Amino acid sequence: MPEAIGIYELAKSNHNEYKNHILNIIKLASKDFRREARTGTPLYHICSKKDQNLFLNFPELSHLHSEIISNALSYFNLTGFSCENVVVTDAWLNVGKKGAKLHWHNHTNAYISGTYYVNFDPKKHSLLGFKNDRLNSNIDRPSITIPVDTTKKTVYNSPVLQVGTAEGTILYWKSHLVHGYDIPNNSDDRITLSFNIMPKECTDGDIFSFKVVAD
Ligand SMILES: [Fe+2]
Repeated sequence: MPEAIGIYELAKSNHNEYKNHILNIIKLASKDFRREARTGTPLYHICSKKDQNLFLNFPELSHLHSEIISNALSYFNLTGFSCENVVVTDAWLNVGKKGAKLHWHNHTNAYISGTYYVNFDPKKHSLLGFKNDRLNSNIDRPSITIPVDTTKKTVYNSPVLQVGTAEGTILYWKSHLVHGYDIPNNSDDRITLSFNIMPKECTDGDIFSFKVVAD
């Protein structure tokens, strides 16, 4: 079955406003906001600790916060799901230098996740990829394997889908999808903003539910 990746392009003037704020945050944020990547690659994060959230710690990004929420509601609407409100439960920055890689991972603490491309040149910076979890080699459970026909490349037998995108774009996807990049970043200053989103109310129609609140 297909997976929906939402691709939203911000107005140029809005992107420039957000980018200026974010470059200032990177320059001025105290050491407590900074965390080195767990894999020892030249990549660090700002506001990724569990008690931090870029939008709560840096309210000058409130306009971007609103845009991320309205695009998330659009993603739900366009893919045919009912959701009236969402909470951005985590938001943080990723600053990658030349040689940085992003290990393959997924986000097990959210419903949808996304990336805003703050400073990004697809000719110099690594593209984000999504693992094809229909291939047996990517599934950690018993399965039967038959060979891939390497002369015939299809969306069903490709191990990774790479998403080519431009600066000023926001991608959205279901949080369980495994993503990353193992081709090293070819230039400094690959800057993105990542976020996790939960519907404010999760329910199976009129029965069973829980609510998520921002803290
Ligand atoms: Fe991620």
